[in-house]
Amino acid sequence: MDIEELPGIGKTTAEKLRDSGYLTVESIAAAAIGELKDVGLGEASAVKIINAAKKASGGMGFETGLEVLKRRETIGKLTTNSHELDALMGGGIETQAITELYGKFGSGKTQLGHQLSVNVQLPRKKGGLEGTAIYIDTENTFRPERIQQMSSALGLDPEETLKNIHVARAYNSDHQMLLVEKAAELAKEYGTRLIVMDSLTAHFRAEYTGRGTLAERQQKLNRLLHSLQRKLADPYNTAVIVTNQVMARPDIMFGDPTAPIGGHIVGHTATFRVYLRKGKGDARIARLIDSPNLPEGECVFEVTTDGIGDPK
Ligand code: GTP
Ligand code: MG
Repeated sequence: MDIEELPGIGKTTAEKLRDSGYLTVESIAAAAIGELKDVGLGEASAVKIINAAKKASGGMGFETGLEVLKRRETIGKLTTNSHELDALMGGGIETQAITELYGKFGSGKTQLGHQLSVNVQLPRKKGGLEGTAIYIDTENTFRPERIQQMSSALGLDPEETLKNIHVARAYNSDHQMLLVEKAAELAKEYGTRLIVMDSLTAHFRAEYTGRGTLAERQQKLNRLLHSLQRKLADPYNTAVIVTNQVMARPDIMFGDPTAPIGGHIVGHTATFRVYLRKGKGDARIARLIDSPNLPEGECVFEVTTDGIGDPK
């Protein structure tokens, strides 16, 4: 069902909604009144449109356990290229979910983001999702050369692989939010099955310093994560990877010096949280933290010139 088919949505309103990333009836049904007001709708029409969308999308209320199971059967699993890490994640990185990779500098967050952007293009029988990737880069660490190395190692055409990765630099946290909306448009057009936001938190850390702004920062981070879930993960069955650095310097962190930036808000919104740390040489250790349906555990993988893999 197109959003125009909802009562109360004319051509101009539909355009406004689409420009802000509301491409599906479900995304409108899940929106808050304030969010549609931000798009430029009046309060009354925002209420009316949300209610119509809720009705059209089956009430957004209860569903049976069987329906939940059916929906979960459409979840895809994306290989990391390491059997050990795939096993830790229950068969790979899940779609319809946000996976947070957190760890110190050099722990492999960006390398994994690159590898997954390549792997998502693989055929299903090789652990891919036969889709394209979107890479939202906040730290200017996206490296096409690494994509070339990783795709060659998998026998893929490096140039074709690069063409299937849409990269955008996010210049601040507001821009990051805007790019999620643009990404939703791209996802529809290009069959995107993976979104990487590397890093989720760096701009927030820089923009919101000091205790007074902490609540505001968390609220905004929370909104960004919900937006990723509702506008990308759910409607397009995409996997969402967000990275989050753990500060080694206790003087700039609030509270626990080993806690990830964004603390609990990120923790509770992300479906999977993976803590990465360096081992000896090329080895990296991944630890799965409080997953809804998987046991906690650890595994070792490697970062080499060919990309992510199992230790030799
Ligand atoms: P921050 O973004 O700084 O928080 O770190 P990160 O977790 O994103 O680290 P990243 O994934 O960028 O890991 C960088 C590390 O990967 C380097 O220090 C190297 O150890 C390793 N690495 C990157 N490229 C190569 C490569 O071509 N060959 C090998 N052997 N290792 C590489
Ligand atoms: Mg990085």
